Amino acid sequence: MRTIFLVVFVLGLSGPVSLQAQNTMTINADQPRNKISRHIYGQFSEHLGTGVYGGLWVGKDSDIPNTDGFRNDVVEALKELEIPNLRWPGGCFADEYHWRDGIGPQEDRPTRINTHWGMVEEKNEVGTHEFMRLTELLDTEPYISANVGSGTVQEMASWVEYMTYNGTSTLANLRRENGQEKAWEVKFWGIGNESWGCGGNMQADYYADLYRRYATFAKDYSGNELYKIASGFSDDNYDWTETVVKNAGRMMDAISLHYYTIPTGNWGQKGPSMNFEEEMYFSGLRQGLKMDEYVSRHSAIMDQYDPEKRIALAVDEWGIWTDPLPGSNPGFLQQQNSIRDALIASTTLDILNKHSDRVRIANIAQTVNVLQAMILTEGPEMLKTPTYHVFDFYTVHHDAMLLPLHIETEDYSHGGESIPSISATASKDKTGAVHLTVTNLHATEDKEVSLNIRGMDVETAGEGRILTADAVDAVNTFDNPDRVSPGPFDNYTLEGNQLILRLPSKSVIVIRIE
Ligand code: AHR
Repeated sequence: MRTIFLVVFVLGLSGPVSLQAQNTMTINADQPRNKISRHIYGQFSEHLGTGVYGGLWVGKDSDIPNTDGFRNDVVEALKELEIPNLRWPGGCFADEYHWRDGIGPQEDRPTRINTHWGMVEEKNEVGTHEFMRLTELLDTEPYISANVGSGTVQEMASWVEYMTYNGTSTLANLRRENGQEKAWEVKFWGIGNESWGCGGNMQADYYADLYRRYATFAKDYSGNELYKIASGFSDDNYDWTETVVKNAGRMMDAISLHYYTIPTGNWGQKGPSMNFEEEMYFSGLRQGLKMDEYVSRHSAIMDQYDPEKRIALAVDEWGIWTDPLPGSNPGFLQQQNSIRDALIASTTLDILNKHSDRVRIANIAQTVNVLQAMILTEGPEMLKTPTYHVFDFYTVHHDAMLLPLHIETEDYSHGGESIPSISATASKDKTGAVHLTVTNLHATEDKEVSLNIRGMDVETAGEGRILTADAVDAVNTFDNPDRVSPGPFDNYTLEGNQLILRLPSKSVIVIRIE
C-alpha cells in the first residue's frame, strides 16, 4: 500500500464499525497555479510508414473522399481533438528532409529514399504547401522540425524566409508562384531532432555551438516570431540538457525531451501491442509513469540556469512503443492500441499537466497509423483508437488553470512491483467550471475515490464520461471499431463539497463540477 486511509464510521455507541481503505483527493479551487498550455496536447506526423501517405494524404485523385488530397474522415475525426500544434516532417526523417524537394509542380518533385523508415520511396507529394494546407484544415499551428543533421544553415534560413517573409524577395516570390500569396504564420521551429542520435550523432558541446549558429540565422520576418526549440535528449541523459542549456539557453525558447514507454523496458524486445495479459499491462503502465521522474529531473537541471522557467521543456515525442504488428513492415512502426495505451496516455498527460509550469509543449507520437496513434486506417476505412478518446476527454484542460491536487492512493501491486492506483488532473476553465479527469489504473479492482473540493460552493457535477474495457488488452479493430469507446459516467454522488466517484477497474473518467 502506498497510502492507506483507515476511515472509521461510528454509528452511535453500539453501531457498526467499518474499516475501509480509501483513495482521497483534495483540491483548492480558489488557488489555481498556472495555465496548462493547450500545446501540451500537440500531435506529431512524420513521413514514416502510413502516418502521412495513406493515413492522412491520399492525393486529390483518390476515390477516398478528400479535400486537396487529405482524407475527409481522418481530418474530421482529428478536428474534434482541437489539436493545438502538429509537428512535421520528423522525427529522424526531418534531418534528411530538404524542403526544396517538396515545392512546385508535383510531377517535377524528386523521388528520394526514406532511409530511416523502411527504405521506401519518398515522392515528396506532401511538401510545405500541402502540410500547411493540412494545418488549415485541422485549424492547428504548424511545428516545423528543421534539418540540422544533413542540411546547411542557409537551407534552413531560406525555408524560414520562404514561409514567413511577406515582402518582396526571390524566395517569397517563389512561394507566391507556388500558390501562396501571403506569408504563413509559423511559430514553433525545431532546430534539429535527436541530434545526439539519428539527427547527426553529435556530442552535446558540438550541438550547443551548432544550435547557436542555426538559431542565429532563423530570423523573424514580417512580424512572425519564431519559438525556437533545441534538440534535447531522451529518458535520463541529464548531461546533454545541462550542457545545451548552459551554453545555448539564452538563444532558445524550449529544449525537447523524448521519452517512449517500452512495456518490457527492453528496446530489443519491447512487448506486443495486443494479446497480452496483466503482466504486460502493468509493466506498460509502470514504465509510462517514469515520465514524472524524467521531467522532474530535467526541469531541476534547467532550474540552475533558468530559475524563472523562461525556457520550456518540450516533450515533443512521447508514447508507447511496442513490437511492430506481426506481418507489418518493421520500419513502419505499426502497432495496435489498447485500453492499456489509453491509460498510459491519461497518466502521462496528468504528469505533463502537473509539470505545466515547465512543460509548455508536447507531442504524442504519432497521429495516424504509427506508434501510439489516435487513428488507424486500412484502405478507405478508419477507426478511433482508445488513446483518441483520452485526448478527446482531456480537451477540457486546454489552456485551463491547473488546480494542484493532493492525492492519497492505494497501491496497485503486481509481480513484486507497485504503482499508484489513481492518477488525476483538475483544472478550472474561463467560466469558473472545474474539470476533473481521473484514472483507475488497477487491472481488476474497482476503486472509490473521495474528492474534497475546497474554495468553491459546489452546486452540480455532471457531463461525466467514461472509457473502460472488458479486458486489459482490449483494442478496436475494423471488425469491432467501438469495443473501447466512451459512455456516460454517472456512478458518483455529490454531498456538499464532497464528490464520491466509483471507478471500475482500468478506466478513465472526465467530469465537470460547477
Ligand atoms: O517517432 C519515431 C522516431 O522516434 C522519431 O523519428 C525519432 O525522433 C525517435 O527516435
